[in-house]
Amino acid sequence: MSADLDASIRRGLGQKPRSLPSILFYDAEGSRLFEEITRLPEYYLTRAEISILQRATEITGAIQSAGQRNGPSLVFELGAGNGEKAALLLKSFAGNGWRPEFHALDVSALALSALQKRFQSMDLAPAFLHEVSFEQAAQVIGSLRRGPALVLFLGSNIGNFDPVAAESFFHSLSALLSAGDLFLLGYDLKKDPAILLPAYADRAGVTREFNLNMLRHLNREWQANFPLDSFYHHALYHPPSGAMESHLIATRELRIRIERLQMEFTLGAHESIHTESSYKYTIEQMISLAGKAGLLSQASFLDEEKYFCDQLFIKGSRVSL
Ligand code: AVJ
Repeated sequence: MSADLDASIRRGLGQKPRSLPSILFYDAEGSRLFEEITRLPEYYLTRAEISILQRATEITGAIQSAGQRNGPSLVFELGAGNGEKAALLLKSFAGNGWRPEFHALDVSALALSALQKRFQSMDLAPAFLHEVSFEQAAQVIGSLRRGPALVLFLGSNIGNFDPVAAESFFHSLSALLSAGDLFLLGYDLKKDPAILLPAYADRAGVTREFNLNMLRHLNREWQANFPLDSFYHHALYHPPSGAMESHLIATRELRIRIERLQMEFTLGAHESIHTESSYKYTIEQMISLAGKAGLLSQASFLDEEKYFCDQLFIKGSRVSL
């Protein structure tokens, strides 16, 4: 509950169209609901990525071809979550005799403690845990730089940045890396909207609960008065930008008060609050976006259905700005 977060809540709700920062999804209940989403039949993303990461020899092969012949000595994961994906990779690294130091970064303490348990039970070397936001991640990575590094940013977390923010994220990351360091990025590919839409509006209503939980979080921690039963969950896809959007739409006019921010406003009947964008890319778009920050594509790995991509980039020796 930082001053920055207060300011972005105030800004988002004060403007039209109204919005809220997606980071507000992830209180303890929201992190639990997101895990439930990853197991839904409609939410193909996590399953697709796990099927990719299980192809251990291809990925370790690409890491060697990219110049890290003995593997990385440091692995950082941004938004590590419960550590399932990193564990898959580190197990296959161990099969190659690679034992990098692993640093897991996440905003959720709950997710990190699940990760810690997983690593203990799998006799992988203990993970170093850092409870930080993406903004604070740079400090952690910067302070630990030694030997060849591999940075993981998986699960289509990049999708929550709009393309301009994604490019500046790539620039900041690139600036932290040394030539030859590697970056594995997991992102969701553009596809038939008939596949995309149900992934963000599932039949069981878990995504709806996840979206509404943001208001529950605000009610509890910011002493707001959002009536949860007076909102629709709505997901839509915007093909030109590749944005999958989630909205909460007021079913009637509502007078909203947020005690902690000393803020009061009227939400009109059918007015929406935009809670998330999850951008989808083509491989060509991603190659060009990352390339602008000096991150050069080495290999891309797709699942069988070509729904999802894990792409390996190498930090080049010169950044072309
Ligand atoms: C965790 C940001 C990758 O955008 O697909 C899932 C979050 N939102 N269902 C995504 C989410 C609605 C998810 N990310």
